[in-house]
Amino acid sequence: MMLIDSPQVRRFLSLTGQRLPIVQAPIGSCAITPLASAVARAGGLGGLALSWSTPDAATQAIAATKAKADGNPFFANFVLHFPCEAFDAALDAGVPLVTFSWGVDPARIARARSAGVKVGVQVGHPLGARAARDAGVDFLIAQGIEAGGHVQSSTPLASLLPQVLNEAGDLPVIAAGGIATGSSIAHAITQGAAGVMMGTRFVASTESGAHDVYKQAIIAATDGDAAYTLCFDGGWNAAHRALRNDTLAAWEAAGCPLAGTRPGEGEILYRHGTEAIARYSDTPPNRGAEGALLSAVLYAGTGVGAITQVEPAAQIVSRLWSEAEASMRIP
Ligand SMILES: Cc1cc2nc3c(=O)[nH]c(=O)nc-3n(C[C@H](O)[C@H](O)[C@H](O)COP(=O)(O)O)c2cc1C
Repeated sequence: MMLIDSPQVRRFLSLTGQRLPIVQAPIGSCAITPLASAVARAGGLGGLALSWSTPDAATQAIAATKAKADGNPFFANFVLHFPCEAFDAALDAGVPLVTFSWGVDPARIARARSAGVKVGVQVGHPLGARAARDAGVDFLIAQGIEAGGHVQSSTPLASLLPQVLNEAGDLPVIAAGGIATGSSIAHAITQGAAGVMMGTRFVASTESGAHDVYKQAIIAATDGDAAYTLCFDGGWNAAHRALRNDTLAAWEAAGCPLAGTRPGEGEILYRHGTEAIARYSDTPPNRGAEGALLSAVLYAGTGVGAITQVEPAAQIVSRLWSEAEASMRIP
C-alpha cells in the first residue's frame, strides 16, 4: 500500500489542505518566510515561529508568507512559555493554522477555532495529548526525546507515539523528533502517525535563516553528536538537544555547574547587528552573525547523522517523500 493512501494521512491532508504529510517544524528564527513558503509550495506544511514576534512583525511575516505560498497552507507557532504577544495579530492577519507547544491554552485554542483557524498542539506526554484533545484541537504533534531544540518529552518517540495515538481518538497525530530520512518517515506512518514534522532537516535547507556555519555543522555531525542537555539555558531554563561543542564539553568537564560558576560565563561569543550573544545563550547563530559561532548553541535532533547536504526545501520535501514511498516497496 502507498503511504499517501493511509487513512490517517488522508484525514490529516484533508484537514489542512496540504498535498504531502510533511511538516516543517517551527525552528525558531530559522523558520523565516522563504523557508515556510517554499515548503508550502512543495506540498508540505510550512511554519513560522512567532512566539517572540511583535504584532506588527507577525502581521508582515504572515502577509509575506501568504503572498509567496501560492494559496498553500502554512502555520504560525506559539511557545506558551512566553507571552506570545503576536497571537491575536496572527489570527487577524488570516494565518491558516496555528500550533502551540509547551502547554495547552483552552482560551487561545477556542479563539483560533472560532476564527476558522485549525489548531495543532505539540505534546511530550499522553496526558498533554488528552488535555489538548479535551480543549478541542484539530491535530496533535507527538514530540519524542530525540527532537532538536527545546524538548518537552522525556520519552522516546517509539514509546510516546502509541500512547498519544491512544489518547487522540480520531485526531491525526504527527510524529516529531529525530526524523530525517525517508525510511523513518515511512516507519512513523506505519506506526499510525498521520505525517511527520522535521526541524533539524529544515535548518540545513537553502532557505532557512540559520548561519552557513550552523548548517555546515549539521552536515558534518554524526549520530550521537546531538546531546540532550541543560547547558544552553540563557533565557529559557528547559531541556534541549544541541550539537556537542567546546562550550558543552567545558561545562560537562566542570561537572555541569549552575549559572554563576560556569566556565567562560559572560564571555561574548558572537555579535548579530547590535546584539551581543554570550556563552550559554539559547540563541543559535543566524545569517549575518559574526564571531565564535561554533561555540554557540547549535540545536539538532538525533537524526542529524543522516543529513549530508544543504538542500532547497522543496527538494527535501519531494526527495524524502519519494524515499519514504520507495522504502515501502522493498521486500
Ligand atoms: C533550531 C530549532 C528551533 C526550534 N524552535 C522551536 C520553536 O520555536 N517552537 C517549537 O514549538 N518547537 C521548536 N523546535 C522543536 C521542533 O518543534 C521539533 O519538535 C523538533 O525540531 C523535531 O525534532 P528534529 O529537529 O529532530 O526534527 C525547534 C527545533 C530546532 C532544531
